[in-house]
Amino acid sequence: MIFFYLKGPFHEFLAKKRLEGKIIGFVPTMGALHQGHISLINAAKQSCDLVVCSIFVNPTQFNNLQDLEKYPRTLDSDSKMLEQAGCDVLFAPEVSEMYTAKELELKALGQEDKSWMEGKNVSFGTLDKVMEGAQRPGHFNGVAQVVSKLFRIVRPHKAFFGQKDFQQLAIIKSMVNQLLINVEIIPCPILREPDGLAMSSRNVRLTPEQRKIVPAISQLLFKIKELQATHSPAQLKTIVSEQFARQTEMKLAYFEIVDGETLTSVNDFNQHKEVVACIAVEIGSLRLIDNVVLK
Ligand code: PAF
Repeated sequence: MIFFYLKGPFHEFLAKKRLEGKIIGFVPTMGALHQGHISLINAAKQSCDLVVCSIFVNPTQFNNLQDLEKYPRTLDSDSKMLEQAGCDVLFAPEVSEMYTAKELELKALGQEDKSWMEGKNVSFGTLDKVMEGAQRPGHFNGVAQVVSKLFRIVRPHKAFFGQKDFQQLAIIKSMVNQLLINVEIIPCPILREPDGLAMSSRNVRLTPEQRKIVPAISQLLFKIKELQATHSPAQLKTIVSEQFARQTEMKLAYFEIVDGETLTSVNDFNQHKEVVACIAVEIGSLRLIDNVVLK
């Protein structure tokens, strides 16, 4: 595997590969890799000639400085995992390589930098207003900002994203369409631990006690999926809030049943083609998200 820390040589290397006609597959990550990420690398290897992974803990998508500081950084073990998985190229830039001082200053002032829109009036409609968007101001602007930069640097033919971050995926698809970025976005299924917990880089920060409790989140989602045939969305929401009202360790940040494309709230299953149940739960200082396709 070849490592690049600087945009310039990385850009030149990829330009050559593109001229050779190689299909470039891209897996953007923030590191602290787990098997979920490796499944994205495997998916990329199946349909691309060259697999590029980026590891960059993106400061602009964190709305809490503590969360940014505590985010696990494990570049050595990550690169070993990538090497073993057969990833061809790793791009692991420093913050100064990705952001100008002005962009970082805006973030520090709590302002959203919109320059990634390249003068276009990109609007995500409801996509960035609900769920994570409503509870983490500026988060999706930071995601769009860094992913658009990474796409401009890597210029991949295909980019692979996990469906655990369902809302992020919707935002990225919308951004690519509106900015006319020539990349195919490939959604990949959620990978779960044997007890059902959705794999996440944040899971390593769970205490052993918390780790025992959190599989209840996915188990509840699976139960909701079973009940979907006989219950309305409103009834399912009541079941979930009652379940969380009964216990103290985890706090329900939201449970929403949304249209798979627009992410608007679903009141009647029959009116929608794809319906997804999305949940966010706070445990200690951690926030875990998960989702399940109901229809
Ligand atoms: O899903 C992630 O790990 C991040 O949000 C991403 C897409 C790499 C952007 O920083």
